[in-house]
Formats: sequence, C-alpha cells, structure tokens
Amino acid sequence: MYRTHTCGELRAIHTGNQVTLAGWVQTVRKFGAITFVDLRDRYGITQLLFGEDLNKELEDSPLGREFVLQATGTVSERSNKNPNLPTGDIEIAISSYKILNKSAVPPFTIQDDTDGGDDLRMKYRYLDLRRNAVKRNLELRYAVNRAARNYLHNQGFMDIETPFLIKSTPEGARDFVVPSRMNPGQFYALPQSPQTFKQLLMVSGYDRYYQIVKCFRDEDLRADRQPEFTQIDCEMAFVEQEDILSMFEGLIKSIFKDVKGIDYTDTVERMTWEDAMWNFGNDKPDIRFGMKLLNLKKPGSVYTNKQGQSELIDGADFKVFDEAETVIAIAVPGCSEYSRKQTDELTEWVKRPQIGMKGLVFIKCNTDGTYKSSVDKFYSEEKLKAIADAAGAKAGDLVLILAGAEERTRKAVSELRLEMGKRLGLRKDDEFRLLWVLDFPLFEYDEEGNRWVARHHPFTSPKPAQIETMINNNPVIENAAEYLQHPYANIKANAYDMVLNGNEIGGGSIRIFQRELQEKMFAALGMDKEEQLHKFGFLLGAFEYGAPPHGGIAFGFDRLCSILGGSESIRDFIAFPKNNSGRDVMLDAPATIDEKQFEELQIKLNLK
Ligand code: AMO
Repeated sequence: MYRTHTCGELRAIHTGNQVTLAGWVQTVRKFGAITFVDLRDRYGITQLLFGEDLNKELEDSPLGREFVLQATGTVSERSNKNPNLPTGDIEIAISSYKILNKSAVPPFTIQDDTDGGDDLRMKYRYLDLRRNAVKRNLELRYAVNRAARNYLHNQGFMDIETPFLIKSTPEGARDFVVPSRMNPGQFYALPQSPQTFKQLLMVSGYDRYYQIVKCFRDEDLRADRQPEFTQIDCEMAFVEQEDILSMFEGLIKSIFKDVKGIDYTDTVERMTWEDAMWNFGNDKPDIRFGMKLLNLKKPGSVYTNKQGQSELIDGADFKVFDEAETVIAIAVPGCSEYSRKQTDELTEWVKRPQIGMKGLVFIKCNTDGTYKSSVDKFYSEEKLKAIADAAGAKAGDLVLILAGAEERTRKAVSELRLEMGKRLGLRKDDEFRLLWVLDFPLFEYDEEGNRWVARHHPFTSPKPAQIETMINNNPVIENAAEYLQHPYANIKANAYDMVLNGNEIGGGSIRIFQRELQEKMFAALGMDKEEQLHKFGFLLGAFEYGAPPHGGIAFGFDRLCSILGGSESIRDFIAFPKNNSGRDVMLDAPATIDEKQFEELQIKLNLK
C-alpha cells in the first residue's frame, strides 16, 4: 500500500496514529539538525518532520522540489500551528521514507503565485495542473458537469453519444477535416456541433436527449473561444419555445445552486434582440447595470421629427453630429466631476484602433444644476439639459456621446458602456444575472455574396406567422443597397440565446421539421436542389418519416465554467487547452505527418 491517508485529511484527532503519505515535495526547509518538508497531493499539504536520526540519509540523497516521496511516521500536534492550512495543527514525525521518483528542477514554481509566464505554463501544462488555482478550476468544471447531468437525468433526458467523424454541420465556422485512408480523396468533417444528429434522434423518438460533448470549429480565437470546446447539448421533442425556456432556466438555476450555493429565485429576464441592440448596442447585454444607450437619431423615436432629424441635436451647426449616421449617448452615474485629464483619457480610449472612433463628446451634469460640455459652443445649457435628461442622466452624472457610422458607433458605445461599468465596479464577479434574448432575425445579410445567410443555423424555424412571408417571397436581393427593404430582412426566428453577465452562454431554436419548409430554407440560403441533397439528403429524408416538432439548445460548457469561476479566459478551465494560434504548445501540434502517412492517404502537399 502506497499510502494510508491523503495529504489533506489528517487533523489533531489523528495524533498518535501511524500513517503513510505519498505525494510531491513542495518545499524543504532545514533547521539545524531537523528538516521540514511540505508534502503535497491533490487533497492538500501536510508538514513532515525529519528528525536528527534521518539527517545523514537526507544528506546523502537530498530531497528536491517535486520529488515523489513516500513517508511513514506518527501524527503529532504542532507546537507552532499554521491556521492557514487545514492540516496546520499537525505534522508527521517521520520514521522512514522512500523516494519513489526524482524530479528535475521544475521550470516554474508550483505555487499559487507562480513565477511562470503563460507560454511556459502551457508548455508544461502537466506541472501547471498541479497548482491549486488550476486544480480548483477543474474541480469547478467537474461540479458543473455533475450538476448538469443530475438535473437532466432527473428530467428524463438520456445521454446519447454521436459520432465525431461526420459530414459538415454548418454553425458558421470552418470545418476541421480528416482525410479517409479507406476512401482516398474523401474527407470527414469534425462536428461543429451534433446539431443534425440530435434532430435525427428526435425523429427516432428519443424525445429528451443530452450530451456533454466536444465540438470543433476552425474560427478566429479569443479569450472565450477554443477550436475544440465542450457543449451541454440538448434537444426535446413535442415542445414550444416556452417549454425550452423554462426547462433550461431550470438547468442553469440548478447548476447555480449545486455549484455556487446560489438560490436564483428571480424570474429570468427576457429581451427581444431589437431591444438588446437599441438599448445595449449588442445581442448579449450585461444587465448587472443600467447605462442604457440613447440613440439620438433613432428613426421614429420621440426625439426624431418627420424629416428624420433629431430635435435634440440637429440644427446647431455642429457638423460632427449633423453629418453622422448615428449619435448615441450614455449617462455614466456619478462621474460629473471628471477632470480634464480623465475626459482626455476617455477620448484616447475611444480613439484606440480596437474602438476606432474619432472623438468623444461629454456633458457634465453638475450637482449645482448647471451643465458643462465639450460642445458648449454649439448647444445652449437648455439643450444640453434636454439631451442629458433624454439619456436618463441625473445631477452628478457624466453623459458620453459618440457619433459616426451606424454599426461602428453602436459597437463602440457598447464597449464604452462595458468599460465604464467595469471601472465603476458595476460588473461584480459574484453577481449573476441571467437574460434570455429572443426573436433574433432568421437571416443575416452577407454583403460579399449579396445573399442571405442563417443567423443561427439553417435548421431554425421562422416565427409561425412569418412562414408565409418566407414561402411567398423570392430570396433574391435585387438591390444590394436596399437589402433592409427585402421581406426576408424582417423575418424573425424562433431562436433564443441565454446570456449570463454579458456573455452568450447558450443558444438554440425551435427547428424546422417539415421537408418542404427545410428545402425552402436551404433554397433561401442559395443551395440548389442538388446541393441540398448532397449535403443534407439524410435529414430531408428523415423528415419524410414522421419527424415530430422539436427544438433544443446548447450551452457553452467551458464558458459557463469560466464565468462561474470569475475568469474571462475559458483556457483556465480546460485541462489541456490550445493557445491563441490554435496550437497545443505542449504537444507541439499541429505538426507535419510522415511521408508514409501521406502515401497511404494518397495526398500530396501543395503549400503556397
Ligand atoms: P451555438 O453555435 O450558439 O449553437 O453554440 C452554443 C454555445 O457554445 C458556445 N461556443 C463556444 N465556446 C467556446 N469556444 C467556441 N469556439 C464556441 N463556439 C460556441 C457558446 C454558444 O452559446 N447547434 C447549436 C445549438 C442549438 O441550436 O441547439 C449551436 O451549436 O456559449
């Protein structure tokens, strides 16, 4: 037997017990004739005391950091207790020990505050995984996994595995492909998600399916994106949108309870996609704080007259506002006393290439009731007050205004809002606010191809009332400049995203389940009959054999874990992640393959 106890479990009540521990040497401290060793394993750290009798042995073959050690001795109460350690009341007076394996000097310290940089820790990920911080993240991940499985199992969901070597599933990214040796010249695609399989399982009658499953997407990486990531993937038959929303609110609330001990009793808020875009500038608003966007040029708003002019800002001869496609304001609470230096810094912030604005206008709503602005020359105090009031500003607030092209400005204000929220401490890690974003557009306009693409994926159904619009209109966009006037631009989908603290943690939809409508959808996306059959013949075929109405959702498992763990990077919650260039620096993958493998696959490289 290698050990009688772990390094985390011995306490004062064990005093006098003979025990054997095994683990890694964290530190060695020599005090004259005695030596203290901190021994670490997954469960904790225990102090070992090597007395005078073992001195010579230790000198002959010294212990080094990360040596694997087995040590036997008696639990004894410490005179100098360590209240910061669960085992801090005791130490083990060692009678015999054995070095089970030596270790080279690790390239960084295996401690909470390690001296290892990102790259080094990724290269030696197996050492990084020994650190508490990373271990806690994996423990949280496992807790989320168990909580999800428990809930779904109790709701009658069945975990069914689906294959990885498949044909393309469109989720908006590029496929990773795998050549087939047995079918030369042919390739499998790795699933971007199990989307079509879970729909087929509904046709097969497994009306509640789930899977915690790897998905593969060749797309640009960010802190919250990995080329292979995990979804909690779910599908249900005989459901409407409302059934899905309540079932999966239940899932997330149950995870909150089991993993964080949080009773999320509030009803989950809901917002249409339109409102999210107008009020927050993006489709995944962080609703932990207000600071809603006021679009001063919103067509049809109370501030816009029949000619489309904004009565609050137009006509003052301020060209920046007059000529801008969009002017958007936010009221930042309690910042009216910002100094020149602070407003200059904010101006620089919005001018950074990532934000890309030309400048920033501000109005200070002073507590004495006066208004001071960077555009005093153009606007009377009365006008400034009217703008500030419209933006919802109170005395003591600072109104920030950006102007420019529609999409860029909206994005910029949305980023500025998040930044100000962060600076003012309004985005607290331990506060969780869930939100459903509903009624997404079914289609998105693809400028390059002058055509429609699916906003979610091509299996998403339109709102029932708009099916006719879809069927009766030709998808062709005659006039690219006026694509917004095309009837397809206004078709809304039966689709929903779940947003947690400004992150999209899940998305899904009620699906199309009739062959004709699915064909119409594919056609709307520019697929002719032949291509439809080639790519999705199996699904269209399945829809002819009694496909039930169905819908589902998939949660980003890594993302959910990182948010619950208070981190922005999902990498911290993945045992062996890839870096930002999609590389596994530990394995040094991707890598070239042997000439023989190319031969077997009958593939010749033609690198450009
Ligand atoms: P979707 O593409 O919205 O939907 O993905 C679902 C959720 O998966 C997470 N996610 C990612 N996480 C890490 N790295 C990535 N590269 C990445 N891409 C997506 C997000 C997202 O909300 N088949 C549909 C679901 C359905 O319709 O049921 C799908 O995959 O949190």
